[in-house]
Amino acid sequence: MTIGGVPLLLTTVMLAVTSGLSGAAASDVQQEATSASLASVLPAPVVATATQGVTYRITTTTTIYAQAGSAAAADIAGQLAAILRPSTGYPVPIAAAPSSGPADGISLLLSGAPTEVGDEGYQLDVTDASIVVRANQPAGLFAGVQTLRQLLPPAVESASVQPGPWEVAGGQIVDHPRFAHRGAMLDVARHFLPVSVVKRYIDEIALYKLNRLHLHLSDDQGWRIAVNSWPNLAIYGGSTEVGGGTGGYYTQDEYRQIVAYAAVRYITIVPEIDMPGHTNAALASYAELNCDNVAPKLYTGTKVGFSSLCVSKEITYTFLDQVLGEIAALTPGPYLHIGGDEASSTTASDYTTFMNRAQQIVAAHGKTVVGWHDIVNAPVLPSTVAQFWGTTTSNAAVTAAAQNGTKVVMSPANHTYLDMKYNSRTRLGQHWAGYIDVQDAYGWDPGAYLAGVGETSVLGVEAPLWTETIETLADVEYMAFPRLPAIAELGWSPMSTHDWASFNQRLGAQGPRWHVMGINYYHSTQVSWPTGS
Ligand code: ACM
Repeated sequence: MTIGGVPLLLTTVMLAVTSGLSGAAASDVQQEATSASLASVLPAPVVATATQGVTYRITTTTTIYAQAGSAAAADIAGQLAAILRPSTGYPVPIAAAPSSGPADGISLLLSGAPTEVGDEGYQLDVTDASIVVRANQPAGLFAGVQTLRQLLPPAVESASVQPGPWEVAGGQIVDHPRFAHRGAMLDVARHFLPVSVVKRYIDEIALYKLNRLHLHLSDDQGWRIAVNSWPNLAIYGGSTEVGGGTGGYYTQDEYRQIVAYAAVRYITIVPEIDMPGHTNAALASYAELNCDNVAPKLYTGTKVGFSSLCVSKEITYTFLDQVLGEIAALTPGPYLHIGGDEASSTTASDYTTFMNRAQQIVAAHGKTVVGWHDIVNAPVLPSTVAQFWGTTTSNAAVTAAAQNGTKVVMSPANHTYLDMKYNSRTRLGQHWAGYIDVQDAYGWDPGAYLAGVGETSVLGVEAPLWTETIETLADVEYMAFPRLPAIAELGWSPMSTHDWASFNQRLGAQGPRWHVMGINYYHSTQVSWPTGS
């Protein structure tokens, strides 16, 4: 049975289950229910094809075979084994894949994938004897492994031995992303989040095939990365946060650890130093960065728009060059985000002067500029990426930029801002962009949202999480789940699969997984959670 588009498959299964089959037909229901797991993948795959009556079972003899000679494939095999071993209790050894063709067991191969799946896609084949993931690049193998996790029972995510059985429904998935940029953002400036929280969030976003983590590393309330040439930024500028807590910052070694942890999960870190506004922590740390040479006090409130770097001083550009130079050197990814939002204490002409120089400095360090969409109010380099965060569906300046070739990351605040409350009763979060329940997060099309900014201008989507009210991992998770998977699906899945009923079923099926993984999620009443999750 070949079905292009998962919702149809799921619908078929649900019809079979609800039509009251019993007795002799029970095994058919079981069979259908098994094939439903192919249709349960989130984000929805491009094509899922069930093979009736076929099931692969992981057993005590199952081996993972990784593409011979590929350290990346071996590493991904190791990550898969690290999930399977604790919950199955099986040894799950890893071996080099034989050149003679896929062996019985689980194979992760960098050969034989269709060209159309590109660098991040994969093909997954499940038969009675084997599970074979094929990809053109390691990123695709990693994505295929995330799909395989979802095809196994939720208990596979457990840290302790569970009864099983560990079965995967037979069939084939051929899958690749719609957009190149599928991001999440953590604001570690308003409240500092330690490395352990960032790593856990990386694990969580990787589950849903996101490939960018944007770190908002500086704001009025704190500077969160050590800069050797300007040490007070972190030591003093990082010493507080919203509400007056002790803040904190990443040493350069810790930042490298985050980058490396993300890299083996095929996630690129996009560091942001917000400027020329949102800079009180820097201005408080160095008096000479202020036009009047007077350092303001550290700030622990939540107002915006009151700070600006001094555009007319040359030392400002020495600062930019040295700070961005150090961060560029620590960051293997292509992007440096320079903020540019809400610069209401910078005149329009100063903003243009500043952004011209800032973009040149980023380019001189070999990186591509990303800015909040306010940056298009200045002339932008052809490579500069604008991140739309507005709440309207038209923005003349962004449209003009897009029509001039600027690529746009879509983060409309009223759909993607994970710090917005779900409803008026949500304890955490803000609501200046409205309340965002799951249907609001899911119900839009990034490729046809902003007037005059079509699919080809859209680099992708991103879900920012600002932390004025967010302090702990539990807070982060509560705001991200279940909305983050909605944004992830908009970034990955073809628009032809976009269907609330299907998404709702697949999202609900994640609940038991989050339960097993200890993810603190909001039990939105819009979602059909399975009973007991
Ligand atoms: C923003 O929300 N100020 C980008």
